[in-house]
Amino acid sequence: MVNILVILGLTLIVWIVLTVIVDKKGPEKIAVVGSANSDKKALIVYDPDPIYNLDEKVSKSFAEGLSEKGWGSKVVTVAAAENFEKEFFDLYVFCANTYNWAPDKAIRDHIKNIDYLQRKNVVAITLGSGSTKRSQRLLEELIKQKEAVLIDSRVFWLMKPNTESKTKRSNSKIAVEMANNFGKEVAERIRN
Ligand SMILES: Cc1cc2nc3c(=O)[nH]c(=O)nc-3n(C[C@H](O)[C@H](O)[C@H](O)COP(=O)(O)O)c2cc1C
Repeated sequence: MVNILVILGLTLIVWIVLTVIVDKKGPEKIAVVGSANSDKKALIVYDPDPIYNLDEKVSKSFAEGLSEKGWGSKVVTVAAAENFEKEFFDLYVFCANTYNWAPDKAIRDHIKNIDYLQRKNVVAITLGSGSTKRSQRLLEELIKQKEAVLIDSRVFWLMKPNTESKTKRSNSKIAVEMANNFGKEVAERIRN
């Protein structure tokens, strides 16, 4: 009985330490994808994850999808996003990791603190190993509270299969490809 309690206690401590590490806001990073002179511009915000960094890969892939349709994007971390508060974008994308069934704290705090989303086109992307339902809902609610126009919300997974078709391809690579197609789809939708 004591052994079980020790194991449970240690697991809890490791989990809490991991949560504190992943919840820490990452460094400033800015990438420009596509032409800076494009008619259509997007700001894509994520907080880098210290483990696999799927959020940066998915965010950049989404931006590449947009760029194939003529868009220019800034793909920035939460820490860098405040540099773009005065700039106008046709689309805002928030890419959140899921920690303990909720979107990561950095993205949550960022969305709560900004005041320029009213009537703006917004896309929500929720990432996680596979249990993301609540996190996706919370992210959508946060965006709607800002009176933004939530044009789409998708989930991509690190572990749970992203596609029903049986394939030996890496699941995270499939997530990145799907994000690229999602970018193209959103660009088409906004154009029409
Ligand atoms: C402390 C902790 C809690 C997590 N909680 C969840 C969760 O509730 N649901 C889920 O789908 N994934 C969860 N994950 C997995 C992360 O969301 C997943 O590793 C991340 O989205 C993929 O990011 P990556 O870019 O580094 O690895 C958790 C990961 C850690 C470290």
